[in-house]
Amino acid sequence: MGLTENHRAELETIFSHYPDRRSALLPVLYLAQREYGWLSDDVLREVAGVLELELTEVTSVAGFYTLFYKEPVGKYVLEICNDLPCALRGAEKFVEHACKKLGVQVGETTPDGLFTLKTVMCVAACDRAPVMQVNLEYHENLDEARFDQMVDELRHSAQLSAGSGQPAIDEQKPQTDTRSLTSEAES
Ligand code: FES
Repeated sequence: MGLTENHRAELETIFSHYPDRRSALLPVLYLAQREYGWLSDDVLREVAGVLELELTEVTSVAGFYTLFYKEPVGKYVLEICNDLPCALRGAEKFVEHACKKLGVQVGETTPDGLFTLKTVMCVAACDRAPVMQVNLEYHENLDEARFDQMVDELRHSAQLSAGSGQPAIDEQKPQTDTRSLTSEAES
């Protein structure tokens, strides 16, 4: 199992912070998402096995939180807040621009697998809108030019790392890895 094989020490550290394994569900789900890019049924099954929980317990928790991805996402997940305070500061127009720049609708991933565009509810940076998280890292007081620049830089960085065979610069894990336990086991 990839999670226990590749992250045994990290799992032990996580478990040491909780009175029992089941209490460690959220950090282990996050670890699993880092490992696989998203939480497929096979991954949820693996997490349930690691924590000795029922699959339904794991599935219900994973389904509750929007930061757990239940379908494949791009290497970079761009989450723009369009909640009311941000909307008053131009978030809707900013989202429109993002769609145009990326050539996708909200919820979609660019054909090259690099960017998934999402809108989210308040991320507690209302006074610095438009605000966007890129793989959970905050970028605030954005404008369209800065957005374009960020996208171009990320795309360039991804192309460089792909060409060099080196891992991407971004430490926030690439999200395109759609491996599952099953496919890993088969390889
Ligand atoms: S409404 Fe967007 S950060 Fe609060």
